[in-house]
This record gives sequence, C-alpha cells and structure tokens, in this order.
Amino acid sequence: MLQGKHILLGITGGIAAYKICTLIRDFKKAGADVQIIATPNALNFVTKLTLQNLSQNEVFVEEFNVKDWKPEHISLSDWADIMLIAPASANTIGKIAQGIADNLLTSVACAFSKKIILAPAMNVNMWNNEAVQQNLKILQMRGVEYLPPESGFLACGYTGKGRLCSLDKIYNAVDEALNYSQMYKGKKVVITAGGTIEEIDPVRYISNYSSGKMGLALAKTANDMGAEVVFITTKDFDVPFKKVLVKSALDMQNAVNEEFDSADYIIMAAAVADYRVKERSEQKIKKGEQNTITLELVKNPDILSELCKRKTSASLEGELSEGQRAGIIVGFCAESENLMENAKAKIEKKGCDYLIANDISRSDIGFNSDENEVTILDNNGAIKKISKAPKNVIARKILECINTK
Ligand code: CTP
Repeated sequence: MLQGKHILLGITGGIAAYKICTLIRDFKKAGADVQIIATPNALNFVTKLTLQNLSQNEVFVEEFNVKDWKPEHISLSDWADIMLIAPASANTIGKIAQGIADNLLTSVACAFSKKIILAPAMNVNMWNNEAVQQNLKILQMRGVEYLPPESGFLACGYTGKGRLCSLDKIYNAVDEALNYSQMYKGKKVVITAGGTIEEIDPVRYISNYSSGKMGLALAKTANDMGAEVVFITTKDFDVPFKKVLVKSALDMQNAVNEEFDSADYIIMAAAVADYRVKERSEQKIKKGEQNTITLELVKNPDILSELCKRKTSASLEGELSEGQRAGIIVGFCAESENLMENAKAKIEKKGCDYLIANDISRSDIGFNSDENEVTILDNNGAIKKISKAPKNVIARKILECINTK
C-alpha cells in the first residue's frame, strides 16, 4: 500500500527514538521511500549510521547543507507526501505550534503544507502540562493529526500517560492518511456555506449568525481528499478551489442548480434564510414619523428539498444515463431544542440521503465556534454520533461517513 510513497520522518530527542528503527524497516518493506530529519538531540538516543542504514538514505540534521539551489527545508517538504514526527517531544510540538523554525526539523514543519502526523512521547507530567495540551490543540485546529501517547511504565521511572503509542497505530495512521488523499478522487463535491443575506434596501439586510466555518472545513477537507470542490458561499474565504460568492437564498439556489447535473455530492451546510423581504427597496428607507414599521416577508424556496425532489424525479424518469447515479445530497439541521426528534422529522420531510444534526443551543459548539459536535442520520434510520472536536476533524468524519467510494 505504501509503494512509491515519500515519507518524511522527523525524529526528536526522546528514548522512544529507538523504537522508530523498527517502523523505518516496516515503511521500507511496504515499498515507501523514507527520508529522515533528526534533531541534534535525537542522535543522543539513536545513531545517524543506524538511521542511514535502515532508511538507505542520507540523514539530515543541520540546516543549510545546500547541495543544489534549493535549501533542504524546501526541497524535503516538496519531495514528501506526508510528514511524520515520532517521537515528538514537548519542545518540538511547542515550536511547531508557535511557528518557531530554529532547526531543520522545525523549519521543514513550518514550510510543510501537506499532512503532518505527530506521535508524542514524554514524561507524564510534561504530557499533562497545560502548555503542551494547548499547543496540541492549536496544531489540531490547523489540521495536524496527533496520536495520543499510551499509559504504562515510562523510561523516566514514572508510570502514567506518555509512552509512545504502538508502532502499528503509527503505521496505520500514515497508511490511512496517504490513501485518504484518494478518497474523493474524480468526484465533484458541491458545498454551500454561510448565512444567506436578504437585503431590505441598499444598506440593510436580514441574515443569521452562521460563520460558514463548518462549510469551509468541509470544502477544504474534501479538497484534501482529492475532490473537485465547488464552494458556494456567502462569506468571502480565500480558498484554492472554485468559489462562487452569493448573497441571497435565490442566488444560492441558482448557483447550486447550475452544478446539480455534474455533482457527485451536494452538501448544504449553509444557513439559508427561510424568508426574504417581499420587495427590496431600491433606495435607503428613510426614518419617518411613525414609531413602528412593518416589513412583509415571503418564503424563500427550500433549496435542499427542491434538490431532493429533482433527484427523485430524475431517477424515476430514467434521466440518468446508464451507470450514472444521482448525487448524494446532504443537509444540515440546526436546532435549539429537541435535536433528534426534529432531525428525524426533517430528514424524512426533506428527502435527503444524510442529515447532519447540530445543537445550536450550546455556546461551545456550532455557530461561530471552532468546534462542533454532530449526529449523522441517514435515510435508512441509522444514526452516528461524532463527539466534540475541531470543525476540520468533524468535516473529515462526515466525509468518511457519506463516502460511497
Ligand atoms: N435549507 C435550504 N433552504 C431553505 C432552508 C434550509 O436549503 N430555505 C437547508 C439548509 O441548508 C440545511 C437544511 O435545509 O441543510 C436544514 O436547515 P434548517 O434551517 O435546519 O431547517 P429549515 O428547513 O429552515 O426548518 P426550520 O427553520 O423550521 O427548522
């Protein structure tokens, strides 16, 4: 499974460094090419010669040993498909989280735009230190994955959490991450995000608190998983894939409809306003003598329900060509009370394949927060709960769950 893959392995100074020798052999046996960067301290625990022989490659330690025109921290990061740091010390974790690049390993991590996996190993008190935990959280928010250490007897004489997790776990995480970039290869994924903006006049509008962060996390993750992403959003995020900037529910509906025929997945993460003002005023509405003012609102189309109807009728009327399947349609469900009851009724009413239920009454998750906790319902009645995690982790789990290969 790892044939031809380029693994950049960072080794920091910790006793668990000796265990990594076995992992290098496993990667090599599976056909991967392994380049190693060791921190100077790592070489107190394993020798350069051992690492060199096992990886059959030069081992890099110091920076600016430039052989050609590209410095090593750039050429190594361009070369690698993935970066694994094992064992990752509290010191290196802290530096990467804070953007410090004072040796070759931390410089490469700073320049690395692909997947990074950390396997921390340290003394139990260091592991429990608030600074270490916060640094890991910062990194996790940025898409870095870490494999928590295990409990047991530690080389420092303590017993507790801090021991490098099993080599099997590390191997599997690398294997999964490398194959993860293929999960949506050749698939077109349309994702909507943000609250729609329903204008009243040229200076005022009706909208909602949706930040668009969950939709953005889904779009970025789908892109990382190899999808062709079309991101239809009311928030102007800077993204490296196709973005369609919209305002109102009607604009959003037009944009989604344009993509319907060629989409393999449509994910409606946007918070679409249910109503818009009946007549938008061309001019700014002036304050009059009256103490009250009435705005007449009319119902917006339910984009999700319309898409589901279109899919059903296309399937029934045989409009789909041989072998082609209608796209998977996913809705979100924001509820402030009776979450599961409302979600079950909603998936049935809207007719979508999956519904991601979100409890917006909690201030620690959902709207505007960087974290979320969701429950995924499918149209067969199956339910999967995803516990609280950063939105990019939730996005990954959602995309894994709805993937039909
Ligand atoms: N949705 C939509 N068009 C609308 C309203 C909602 O496409 N006019 C989509 C949302 O993008 C979301 C799902 O429907 O994927 C559920 O949105 P939600 O606001 O929870 O439900 P509503 O249908 O608006 O019902 P209610 O506001 O009564 O809960």
